[in-house]
Amino acid sequence: MQDISTYNVPQHIAIIMDGNGRWATQRGLPRLKGHKQGAEAVRRCVESAKELGVKYLTLFAFSSENWKRPEAEVRGLMDLMRLYLKKEMAELHKHGVRVKAIGDIDKLDSDIQKMIAKSEDLTKDNTELTVQIALSYGGRADILNAAKKIVQDCDSGILDIEHLTEDDLSARLYTAGVPDPDLVIRTSGEHRLSNFLMWQLAYAEIFISDVYWPDFSKDDLRKAVEFYALRERRFGGLPEKGDVLDGEYSDEQSKERSYTKG
Ligand code: FPP
Repeated sequence: MQDISTYNVPQHIAIIMDGNGRWATQRGLPRLKGHKQGAEAVRRCVESAKELGVKYLTLFAFSSENWKRPEAEVRGLMDLMRLYLKKEMAELHKHGVRVKAIGDIDKLDSDIQKMIAKSEDLTKDNTELTVQIALSYGGRADILNAAKKIVQDCDSGILDIEHLTEDDLSARLYTAGVPDPDLVIRTSGEHRLSNFLMWQLAYAEIFISDVYWPDFSKDDLRKAVEFYALRERRFGGLPEKGDVLDGEYSDEQSKERSYTKG
């Protein structure tokens, strides 16, 4: 295996952590056991991302649609979140990790909101790795909220509708100030984005892992990073002359790849 330090490591990885329920069912265990093991995988993954030199990691922990799950499962997931924030924060802070929550946080129980605010405040100056935990998050709602803010800012004269840019909208998303993900990983073999970061993932490379999230290992993250490095080497930005084999792209494709990223 090649030394990872020679790779083009993605600056920002987003992960749709899927398969907790199936992992548990396969073992005859309650679904919550799968989520509990999933929280262990989160701990491993954060550690590994930092070791690999990733600067931003965004984890889809609870979607706006997940509220529809049975009450006991929602309660169990919230308890896991409490435990994670309580148990891991000091360690994360010690290792220079900044923690942020994105999503409709107002919908969460007030004690969790307080724990999030405390964690965000404690870690706000850390620069090694930023971990965004998506909670009660929906990509379309994120865009809709940003659009509402744009309308308000146009009304109050902060923005001019004639000169709106994509950056104006990006700056009003939950992820404001964080560069878009370079790579999105979905576990458990599913090929859907499930309303995750619908604006921000426009140019991300997509890596599907067949592994259920609770089994996702440091080695699996490394495989995803290797996949990204190879994709980037062939297709990222302007290909160097000579990088592309004769006849590999049609003229139209070559033109397109020269002017767009992705
Ligand atoms: C998807 O699996 C996973 C979730 C809905 C929750 C993700 C939560 C964790 C990994 C644990 C807590 C997170 C943190 C940040 C501490 P699923 O239940 O949809 O699995 P299935 O598709 O196999 O049923």
